[in-house]
Amino acid sequence: MTDAPLPRSPAPRSPGFGSDNVAGVSPAILAALAAANDDSMPSYGTDDLSARVEARLSALFEREVAVFLVSTGTAANALALGALTPPWGAVLCHAESHIENDECGAPEFFTGGAKLVHVAGEAAKIDPDALAEAAGRNRGDVHCVQPAAVSVTQASELGTLYGVEQLRAIGAVCRAAGLKLHMDGSRFANAVAALGVSPAELTWKAGVDALSFGATKNGAMGVEAIVLFDRAKADELAFRRKRGGHLTSKMRFLAAQMDAYLDGDLWLANARQANAMAARLGAGLAALPGVALQAPAEANMLFVRLPQKMIDGLLAQGFRFYTDRWGAGVVRLVTSFATTAEDVDRLLEAAGKLG
Ligand SMILES: Cc1ncc(COP(=O)(O)O)c(C=O)c1O
Repeated sequence: MTDAPLPRSPAPRSPGFGSDNVAGVSPAILAALAAANDDSMPSYGTDDLSARVEARLSALFEREVAVFLVSTGTAANALALGALTPPWGAVLCHAESHIENDECGAPEFFTGGAKLVHVAGEAAKIDPDALAEAAGRNRGDVHCVQPAAVSVTQASELGTLYGVEQLRAIGAVCRAAGLKLHMDGSRFANAVAALGVSPAELTWKAGVDALSFGATKNGAMGVEAIVLFDRAKADELAFRRKRGGHLTSKMRFLAAQMDAYLDGDLWLANARQANAMAARLGAGLAALPGVALQAPAEANMLFVRLPQKMIDGLLAQGFRFYTDRWGAGVVRLVTSFATTAEDVDRLLEAAGKLG
């Protein structure tokens, strides 16, 4: 879900629970931006920082990868899918995916007209058996779009996670059917931190061809990396990125963010903080009368049914979160690297008094 405007809070210090986009920037990333400002550097991604980011991501993923930095998650997803899908292709995805609901047709635009086709599955995750069925649909029928790629979201729009086994099952279907596998990893860090498995296990080792590696929601100012595990598409993607208006001239400022994000595993530390705060929030809310977690917090997002009096009271006190979209009384609470235990406890205390 993309964030609609939230009401202003009378408590300006609180990052709120509306989205992980409402948080600011990690101090180390701000410092890296300032440092990158000290000198002139080559433009359009030919700078040393960009090269270092590619080397760091290759080390992180335990293989040589091609990296394309862009400034939004929508661009990362749409450009990656453009490289994986012909205009007559179908991109198989869950109905709850960001590419389907929140990207204003960018995937269709950047693929030159490919069609997003829904695949069923619990908790906003594609079911491998349903995928196998969809992958074989209309094959060779010139009247129909041809299954070409699959896109999974990790963590999903409902904050749920694909485990390694589930991803491998999806990867196996893709391989058997000749489909490319894309992962929208806008919250990939939260998934890695929660699952405790390596980035390689969660991606190419399970069959992922291209990853949108998010950073903005987890401490960056605005940078995402398209990570190609299959370098064969790298030349093409370079042209696609330029044509799509995402070859930033002062690329060093995107690279500086990503470099600092990877340095010392800041990306993981930030995600662990966000996840821990969601767990603390979930445990605290679950202990209150009349409150029902819709599912345990797997990453940094909680969906909780609250008594209406509690929702109204919290909103009136300036706590910020989204309501309404997930059924009567169900709210979405999102934590970030900037959420503190005090932020969580303040909400819990207020909710306790409204129970
Ligand atoms: C699952 C998911 N993918 C991608 C994005 C990236 O969106 P944006 O283009 O706003 O950076 C978001 C942001 O809300 C998201 O939740």
